[in-house]
Amino acid sequence: MTITSPAEADALIVELVATPEGRADPYSRYAALREHVPVHRSGIGFWVLTRYDDCQRILRDPRMGKDFSGAALALGLSEEQQAEQAAFRDDHSNMLFADPPDHTRLRSLATRAFTPRTIEGLRGSVVALVDELIDGLADGEVDVMDALAFRLPVTVIGEMLGVPAEDRPQFRPLVRASTAVLELAVTPEALAAATAARATMEEYFAGLVAERRARPADDLLTQLIAVEDGGDQLSERELISTAILLFAAGFETTTHLIGNGLLALLHHPDELTRLRGDRSLLRPGVEELIRFDSPVQITARTANEPIEIGSHVIEAGGTVLSILGAANRDPDRFTDPDRLDLGRDEGSSLSFGSGIHYCLGAALARLEAQVVFDRLLDRFSTMELVGGPPRHRDSLTLRGLVDLQVRFGA
Ligand code: HEM
Repeated sequence: MTITSPAEADALIVELVATPEGRADPYSRYAALREHVPVHRSGIGFWVLTRYDDCQRILRDPRMGKDFSGAALALGLSEEQQAEQAAFRDDHSNMLFADPPDHTRLRSLATRAFTPRTIEGLRGSVVALVDELIDGLADGEVDVMDALAFRLPVTVIGEMLGVPAEDRPQFRPLVRASTAVLELAVTPEALAAATAARATMEEYFAGLVAERRARPADDLLTQLIAVEDGGDQLSERELISTAILLFAAGFETTTHLIGNGLLALLHHPDELTRLRGDRSLLRPGVEELIRFDSPVQITARTANEPIEIGSHVIEAGGTVLSILGAANRDPDRFTDPDRLDLGRDEGSSLSFGSGIHYCLGAALARLEAQVVFDRLLDRFSTMELVGGPPRHRDSLTLRGLVDLQVRFGA
């Protein structure tokens, strides 16, 4: 693919974010953007970065922030709808959308629960849970997205946070609906559904907070409530918003790491066999799967002052999209980047972001994926894709599968 004008680059971006073809194969389109217009100012105003170094620099630059008021972040919406979408991102009551000093305060409250050491302490219970879920796969053909990829992370984060088991399944459609606002192409109907889903989740967590306040438990939500009750560090609104963020981020992305990762392995049988024979590849292998087809493809920032990128100047107030999925396939950063190599040892991808918003749950996501692939290989001597090619969700910022039918053989 070649790009000879800014209009062609824009057409490619529309294809990427709004067509099934673009979602099925974003990587060749990213490659064209990276090669021809690595720093591109799109027709609707936002900047699009596709090189690893540029994306990383922007994510680490303290002059870049999360103030999206007035930013045009989606194609095909009216001004009013753009404002409605921006309002989601402009709600600074959780760390994901907050700038320092609020970001520092909000993040520090939850950090301790997610340190690599604390998370490593969960390994035994994650193994037990994975084994239990895998028992359900033993009878032949299953949709892995439902039976494992969703159930594992929602159970793990649900237990940590204290969301009762019977309440968890309802969040799958709610979280999916609410994440529509992170997309670059969102219909007015999807936006309305996102607003409704967010209201439902806020109401649910307000109720759960009230319940924990009455009857404290040994969970993260109770710890966050204690912080709120202990002073003015966390408002009620921040508490509810943080609980929703931790719960939603805790399963939505990891679900897609398991799905995208397993699909990549099934598409690369030699690598799967390599991993089967050498489990020391689990850690680098999971890093490689995270690089190869990241569940988070895009993250946005706003320039708080003019910032130079090569010969370009991003104006103050300009919105910049770092395409993490493109950065992860940058040949200036990774050797033969389109190849899946479970033994790759070339440092981190940008799949968990970079800088102050670096993913809080990275250690947890890695642990869950390592255990899943390890136990699947222990348990089954064959795994094969069945049915047609798996379908991708209607989204690019969060990249994942609708379903993944696999036949397992003991
Ligand atoms: C494969 C799985 C995951 C991926 C690919 C992923 C990716 C990301 C990325 C790219 C960011 C940075 C967003 C930005 O720069 O604006 C982020 C932030 C975050 N992630 Fe994850 N994540 C994953 C799993 C998890 C899990 C399991 C949790 C558990 C709670 C989690 C919680 C968070 C939180 C709270 C933030 C916000 C951090 C901040 O703003 O300081 N993530 N994640």
